[in-house]
Amino acid sequence: KQRIGIVTSGGDCPGLNAAIRGVARASYGMIDCEIIGIKDGFKGLIHCNYQVLTPRDFSGILVRGGTILGTSRTPFKKMRKIEEDNIDKVKNMVNNYEKMKLDCLVTLGGNGTHKNANLLREEGLNVIALPKTIDNDIWGTDITFGFHSAVDIATEVIDRIHTTADSHDRVMLVELMGHKAGWLTLHAGVAGGADVILIPEIPYDINKVIASLDKRHSSGKDFSILAVSEGALSIEESNMKKKELKKLREKMKYPSVSYRLAKQINEALGLETRVTIPGHQQRGGSPSPYDRILATKLGAYAAEMIAGKDYGKTVSVVNNKLWATPLKQVAGKLKLVEKDNLLISTGKLVGASFGD
Ligand code: F6P
Repeated sequence: KQRIGIVTSGGDCPGLNAAIRGVARASYGMIDCEIIGIKDGFKGLIHCNYQVLTPRDFSGILVRGGTILGTSRTPFKKMRKIEEDNIDKVKNMVNNYEKMKLDCLVTLGGNGTHKNANLLREEGLNVIALPKTIDNDIWGTDITFGFHSAVDIATEVIDRIHTTADSHDRVMLVELMGHKAGWLTLHAGVAGGADVILIPEIPYDINKVIASLDKRHSSGKDFSILAVSEGALSIEESNMKKKELKKLREKMKYPSVSYRLAKQINEALGLETRVTIPGHQQRGGSPSPYDRILATKLGAYAAEMIAGKDYGKTVSVVNNKLWATPLKQVAGKLKLVEKDNLLISTGKLVGASFGD
């Protein structure tokens, strides 16, 4: 019997359970195997916390949000560091992989997880990764599971904001997740008809944002909606060193970008402003049908790779086809929004250094 370990790591998102089920069901169908669920992310591998799962464990989880295995963040930077607990994390993971008698390990996660998966590959483990994140920023794949569900949720927030913005003649700022990548804000902003979209990849010019709102309101519009990534930066901030910016944020009364923007807009135009931050709602709840299918397909593809002993790779979607990309190519790279990705909405990216 082949022993297949599965671990979910990093921030959760809708579709993790669908992917776990996809790997398990397809593997049961193809090879004589046993599925070992590693608990609470890489922590479980470090501390040998696992459970042997049975086919019944995968029943009814397709539509369930979160992850039945639990998850945690184990930053790549710290993996090789021996901390106060004196634990050699990498050594433990390699030893526990042996102890659990695993033939391979399937990691479900985002960028940090891909870096950790690549590290384990370098340590000689048989690893296969699946791309999960609401940020959609994993290099080499057109889409990650979780993204579509988050776009649905964020779009609904913007849709609902319209009526209240209209009733009160307000400028409403909706702050969406994404520290480095603006895919979620861009897509939800376009789908929800936001008037201004600000993303981390394109530092904004506050004067352009204000001028565009002024123009809109002078032309008779009573309300405006801004979709803002949590990681959006002004041009001035984008020119600062990371440490400098961190210090500045610590001193700020409003460290959240949308509150700062709301104040600036109110002071410049006298318009009433409000901020909505849906936060972790964007990661919660049942996956969209699209994500259920995507996660199932990716999981089943991983099972085919397990059957073919095709390790050291992550499953990617390239031009609608599934593909296995070497982990060493993916680890440490981000897929960010570029000018070419803005085709649909250049007019909406206001305050940007290009596109408006
Ligand atoms: O990486 C996914 C993500 O949802 C980011 O968009 C967000 O900034 C971050 O995780 C939030 O992380 P946490 O759940 O640790 O607060």
